[in-house]
Parts: sequence; structure tokens; C-alpha cells
Amino acid sequence: MMMITTMTTMTTKSPSGRKPSKAELSFLMGWHGLLSGAFLVAYVTGEGSYAMHVFSGVMVLLALGIRLLVGLGAPKNSPLALPTLSLPPAGQTPPGIRAVQRLINNWMAAALLVLITLAALSGWFAHDIGMDDDFHEGLAEATPALIFVHIAFAVTFHTLKSLPTGTVTRVAADVINKTGKS
Ligand code: HEM
Ligand code: HEM
Repeated sequence: MMMITTMTTMTTKSPSGRKPSKAELSFLMGWHGLLSGAFLVAYVTGEGSYAMHVFSGVMVLLALGIRLLVGLGAPKNSPLALPTLSLPPAGQTPPGIRAVQRLINNWMAAALLVLITLAALSGWFAHDIGMDDDFHEGLAEATPALIFVHIAFAVTFHTLKSLPTGTVTRVAADVINKTGKS
């Protein structure tokens, strides 16, 4: 439930600021469920049922492939476009809290997509051409740490969003004032 609410609230603005339509939101939520569900099963069956492991691992690859195709086909301003990694130009006034949040989300999404792709592809190569499975295991074991950070950010941003308007700015101003005085 928390994940659904967070997904709904956090994906309400694309990098360009356009709100996603109902269909886009449903796609993102369904896709997120497929990816995270298949990943979880692949992770826990790594040392268990091999057939189940390969099936769920291939589901992860399928989810990633779908995301790539949809992302490449979507217009740049669409919430379905692939995450962009632009930084604000140097010398510009500091970006607002929402812009920083969007930047972190985009970098986090890109890092997750790349790491999960490498983990699943290395499994495919270990299965298909007998490539060293230590490399696959290393990547697979590194992923949960990044997912943990991802969930921590998602929950934090969701909590910040539910605070009354201006709270974050007020707290930040208080901290800056206090630091300036001491
Ligand atoms: C309770 C658990 C989770 C919550 C609350 C959560 C929440 C979210 C939210 C809110 C977004 C959208 C971020 C944005 O606005 O850009 C997102 C994106 C994403 N999540 Fe999660 N997530 C969870 C678990 C997972 C897991 C287990 C995985 C991977 C196995 C995962 C992989 C991703 C990826 C790859 C994206 C980027 C989607 C894209 O832009 O293509 N998440 N998640
Ligand atoms: C992101 C998805 C995946 C995750 C999280 C994952 C995770 C794991 C883990 C934790 C292990 C156990 C390593 C060990 O302790 O020995 C493992 C082994 C393995 N995985 Fe994956 N895997 C994924 C996708 C795949 C895919 C797509 C394939 C092949 C189609 C695959 C093939 C293998 C093979 C061949 C082994 C070695 C099995 C053995 O030595 O008995 N994996 N995987």
C-alpha cells in the first residue's frame, strides 16, 4: 500500500513537470510490481530452485526490455521517458527542493536500472555460455544495498510531501540561520 501511494505521489511530475495520465501511472505501477516481484523471487531462488531462478531472472530481463523500449519510444517530456542525468548549470541560483528531489530520483532510477540489468545479464551469460558465475553472484549481492537506499529515499520523499507546504523550506532556513550564528 505504502509503495502504491509513494509511486502515485512521487511520479506525479515528469522532468518537464507534466503530470502522468492514468494509463501512464498504471503502466509504471504494473511495471514496478513486475520488476520488483521478479527480482525478489530471483534473489531468493539463487541458491534454491534453479528452474524458478531462471524463470524469474528472465522475467526481470523482460521487464527491463519493456522499460527500455517504452522509454525510447516515449517523447522527451513524457513521464515514461528514460531518466535524464542533467545537472543544473554552474553559477545558477541553487535549485529548489523539488528540483533536487527530481534529480536524486533520476540518478537513483538510472543506477538501479543499470545495476539490475548487469546482474540479470551476467546470470544469462553464466547460464547460456558458462561464464564465471562469481561475477553474477557479486552483482546480484550488491543490488539489495542500492534497493535499500532507493526505498529509504522513496519513503523520505513521501513523508516530506505529506508535511504542510513550506515546512521543509522553514526547517532548512532555521538550520542555515543557526549555522550562520554559531
Ligand atoms: C517498498 C519498496 C519500494 C518503494 C516504496 C518504491 C518506490 C518507488 C518510487 C516512488 C519510484 C518512482 C521514483 C520517481 O519518482 O522517479 C520508484 C522507481 C523505481 N523503482 Fe522502486 N520502490 C520499491 C521497491 C523497489 C524494488 C525492490 C526495486 C527493484 C528490484 C525497485 C526498482 C525501481 C526502479 C528501477 C525504478 C525506476 C523506474 C524508472 O524510472 O524507470 N523499487 N520506486
Ligand atoms: C536480477 C536478477 C537475478 C538475481 C538477483 C540473481 C541472483 C542470483 C543469486 C543470489 C545466485 C546465487 C549465487 C550463489 O550463491 O551461488 C545466482 C546464481 C545463478 N544465477 Fe542468478 N540472478 C538473477 C538472474 C539470473 C538469470 C536471468 C539467469 C539465467 C537465465 C541466472 C542464472 C544463474 C546461474 C546459472 C547461477 C549459478 C547457479 C549455481 O551455481 O548453482 N540468474 N543468481
